[in-house]
Amino acid sequence: MPQRDDAAELMRLVNGYQASQAIHVAATLGIADLLKDEPRTSDELAVATGTQPRPLYRLLRALAALGILREAEGQRFTLTPMGAGLRSDAANPAGPWAAFIGTPAHWQAWGDLLHSVRTGGSAFRHVHGTDPWTHRAQRPAESAVFDRAMTGLSRRAADAVIAAYDFGRFGRIVDVGGGQGALLAAVLAAHPAAHGVLFDQPHVVSGAADVLRAAGVEARCEVVAGCFFEAIPEGGDAYVLKSILHDWDDDTATAILRTCRRAMAPGGALIVIERVIAPPNEAAEAKLSDLNMLAMLGAQERTREEFAQLFTGAGFRLADVTATGDVVSVIEGAPA
Ligand SMILES: C[S@@+](CC[C@H](N)C(=O)[O-])C[C@H]1O[C@@H](n2cnc3c(N)ncnc32)[C@H](O)[C@@H]1O
Repeated sequence: MPQRDDAAELMRLVNGYQASQAIHVAATLGIADLLKDEPRTSDELAVATGTQPRPLYRLLRALAALGILREAEGQRFTLTPMGAGLRSDAANPAGPWAAFIGTPAHWQAWGDLLHSVRTGGSAFRHVHGTDPWTHRAQRPAESAVFDRAMTGLSRRAADAVIAAYDFGRFGRIVDVGGGQGALLAAVLAAHPAAHGVLFDQPHVVSGAADVLRAAGVEARCEVVAGCFFEAIPEGGDAYVLKSILHDWDDDTATAILRTCRRAMAPGGALIVIERVIAPPNEAAEAKLSDLNMLAMLGAQERTREEFAQLFTGAGFRLADVTATGDVVSVIEGAPA
């Protein structure tokens, strides 16, 4: 029989979807930004968000019980330090990811995780009839929510990655599947002599200018639209792939790496930035992200040994793995 605390913890995990969706709704409504300067009542927030006062109050009091908001007399709410992470100007933003994960396409695919576990295939494809990239390419509004989520995650990771790994030795850095450039912008801002090439799909890089301009690096960053199964910009000293390989099965990931190998300058470096699956019983975050990759794409997070094998198959050797203060590590490959 489980101990009493185990039983409560188990139930908390079972009901985790409730907290997740409640935070998603608050993020979508922009509650944290509305509370950025001063406390506000739930009625005031209902007017500002176009929601019903009583249901919004019930959402807010639940979030206060979770420690994201604080409720004072008169149904007046403030942000806690944790809740401040949902502000759009947060240094480590969680809001864009929260806004994304509760969207119907993503949420419904997670609701079909059993299909992925039974078949090994993508629940997203089973539910929606196509892969997430094609789905979003046809839906600009959903693509924008996803791209903002990626920008948020890369902003969260950037300081830790830059502190852990020296990008300063590279003159031309190509970010393959770099989204709207949040990581590359931070790398270029930290290394004023470096030049960047941001490469991603056309409908994604079309939204990159603001990110690059905000970091003051637009003059040192070329933006190239394309498909990494066809060709990628040549002659880079470093090819960065952050959160790319985990989107693909081994054969496809190998094909992407071979394209990088062909494109890179002699002596160039491959810089893969991903979670590394830890030994048994540790580090649930990466193992849950692995389930996310399974459900969305029939893909996976990898162990260090799996990265080494992947690199070997694409003409690289695994040179080093550097942990960062973030959930991702820097996995460096050198031409074999
Ligand atoms: C998980 S996101 C990671 C984005 C970014 N590297 C980051 O970490 O914030 C994967 C990226 O791969 C891009 N992508 C998917 N298929 C692609 C393709 N065929 N060619 C180029 N980019 C692609 C997506 O548009 C998306 O920006």
